[in-house]
Amino acid sequence: MIVAIDGPSASGKSTAARNLAARLGLRFLDTGAMYRAVTWVALERGIDPADAAALEDLARSLEMSFDDRGLLFVLGKPVEAHIRGPRVTGAVSQVSAHGGVRMHVVARQRELAREWGGLVAEGRDTSTVVFPQADHKFFLWASAKERARRRAEEIGQPEAAERIAAELEARDRFDSTRAIAPLRQASDAVRIDSDGLLPDQVVDALERAIHEAGGAGQSGSRRSTAR
Ligand code: DC
Repeated sequence: MIVAIDGPSASGKSTAARNLAARLGLRFLDTGAMYRAVTWVALERGIDPADAAALEDLARSLEMSFDDRGLLFVLGKPVEAHIRGPRVTGAVSQVSAHGGVRMHVVARQRELAREWGGLVAEGRDTSTVVFPQADHKFFLWASAKERARRRAEEIGQPEAAERIAAELEARDRFDSTRAIAPLRQASDAVRIDSDGLLPDQVVDALERAIHEAGGAGQSGSRRSTAR
């Protein structure tokens, strides 16, 4: 079974996808982590985030794998500690907008789905481009205000919510208006509005929608808003 969950930055996709995967007994694929890893290695090697050719070469040659917990390894080394900081976050939208980078990263994502025999993937284009044949597609939405509030709470700086909201909105705008694989809701995705929902309630809503659609392999129109 392939479940694809897309949505804007900090919409809670990662937590929801990871927990849903555990409930369904599937592997979890954090596609954003792969773009973050390409960005981190590029910055480490002094590659300009505007240098499309060098970035494409890097994305082609970078060996990326995941452990059972869904944590990313590059060239056999764990990279979580390096890929979530502000330097990578500030450059990842630009790096991931290059078609050559996306081509190699998407190929690796499809390869992982074949290796694993199914997965729960989350990102910006998993339901529209990477796995258009996914059994279940979701668009996980939350307002910028709510996303910023959660993020500010996470880092213990509630006063930073306004600044974080502005940063999130800027990244969403960039990710949604880029030429290649922009963030958008697939026409056959179920939209989940997570404002006011606790993390477990989001996973409940995802799981309920999957069961209502008939579990694995069900296709067809799923345009309703699940809450
Ligand atoms: O989900 P995240 O914040 O870790 O994603 C980091 C960036 O990677 C995001 O700003 C856009 C890009 N991305 C993408 O272009 N396509 C994906 N499927 C996932 C992430």
